[in-house]
Amino acid sequence: MPGTTSMMVAKTVSGLEQILKSELDGIGALNAEVMNRAVSFEGDKACMYRANYLCRTALRILLPVHVFEINSQEDLYREIKEFCWEDHLDADSTLAVDAVISYTVFTNSQFVAQKTKDAIVDRFREKTGKRPSVDLENPTLRINVHLFKNTCTLSLDSSGQSLHKRGYRKQTGIAPINEVLAAGLIRLSGWDMKKPLLDPMCGSGTILIEAAMLASGIPSGNFRSEYGFTKWKDFDEALWERVKKEAVEKISFPDDLRIVGFDKSVMILRKAVENVDFTGLDRLVFMKQAAFEDSIPPSAEGVIITNPPYDERIQLEDSVAFYKMIGNVLKRKYNGYKAWVISSDLEAIKFIGLKPSKKFKVFNGPLECRFLGFDLYEGKKQNKFTD
Ligand SMILES: C[S@@+](CC[C@H](N)C(=O)[O-])C[C@H]1O[C@@H](n2cnc3c(N)ncnc32)[C@H](O)[C@@H]1O
Repeated sequence: MPGTTSMMVAKTVSGLEQILKSELDGIGALNAEVMNRAVSFEGDKACMYRANYLCRTALRILLPVHVFEINSQEDLYREIKEFCWEDHLDADSTLAVDAVISYTVFTNSQFVAQKTKDAIVDRFREKTGKRPSVDLENPTLRINVHLFKNTCTLSLDSSGQSLHKRGYRKQTGIAPINEVLAAGLIRLSGWDMKKPLLDPMCGSGTILIEAAMLASGIPSGNFRSEYGFTKWKDFDEALWERVKKEAVEKISFPDDLRIVGFDKSVMILRKAVENVDFTGLDRLVFMKQAAFEDSIPPSAEGVIITNPPYDERIQLEDSVAFYKMIGNVLKRKYNGYKAWVISSDLEAIKFIGLKPSKKFKVFNGPLECRFLGFDLYEGKKQNKFTD
């Protein structure tokens, strides 16, 4: 596709589609349209490389190569076997297949992935006597098969490993937030990249690092070395180097910005420090061991974005009391701040006891979450404490 424009699909987390669309518009993608957990767009090869390297809220960039109708399970095998896979794969390469299905004659996505793999492998075996082997972790080519009703779309996955794997998180706590979701929450919050930003339950530091990368214009792919497309037959290394150079030249560290993290656990905070040090963003990100209830606001005003325990992977003794504590601390100490809290504990989060001025529904993996924004401006109209 050098120079030619192709239709592509960028996948994302439910709730971040609009943000991803604006990111794609920003890198020069054409005709971006919001879908369910995805955005379709058009662009050339440089655009595909940019989408992978720069779109903070994209999980994968798929390049559809074949769309066909199926009326039976046999149709799938036959159509896939007839497709000219030699354009994309050699007999001595490796492959992996991801399948996503809905409302189709198939009921099991694993089975669809298996059938797809069989059809490709059988084609090579019949033509060359050799067959590509399967490598689920690090294949030469990752293929995505999407079945919706009777329509099957075969795509090449230009990202390879999911783009949330940024390459900077060397250490994690028990329940790290997905990097793509963290980046999306920062954008949803409307943070202006100037006011101080605080995550008072920062865990391994994902929100802090994503915020610092955003504010400095560090590409989301800056710390990652591999993408699916770098192993493709048509990989254009010179173009890829140009795309990266263009983006890296725009990095600029803001002078006065402070991004602060607290966590009550010293052990977890050490992991955040290690991650931040790895990125070199310690010039913007400052961390301190503190329980939120004992914390001292690092500035008179600012934006809080935090991902407290949900009582899922991190168990809480009394989740209602915990979320009440969050509300009380916000009210008592954080006047002048705008606070954003994400949680899947939809009952307990109400006990923050403040009326949210903004609300978003997002998913953290399979968990349906609310991302609530609270205005904590003392004496102003926005101050809507309920107790
Ligand atoms: C869900 S994790 C945050 C994960 C983080 N966003 C990341 O990406 O790693 C919640 C964090 O809150 C911390 N925590 C729990 N209670 C706290 C409190 N009262 N004050 C400060 N931190 C607390 C835990 O130690 C844990 O690291």
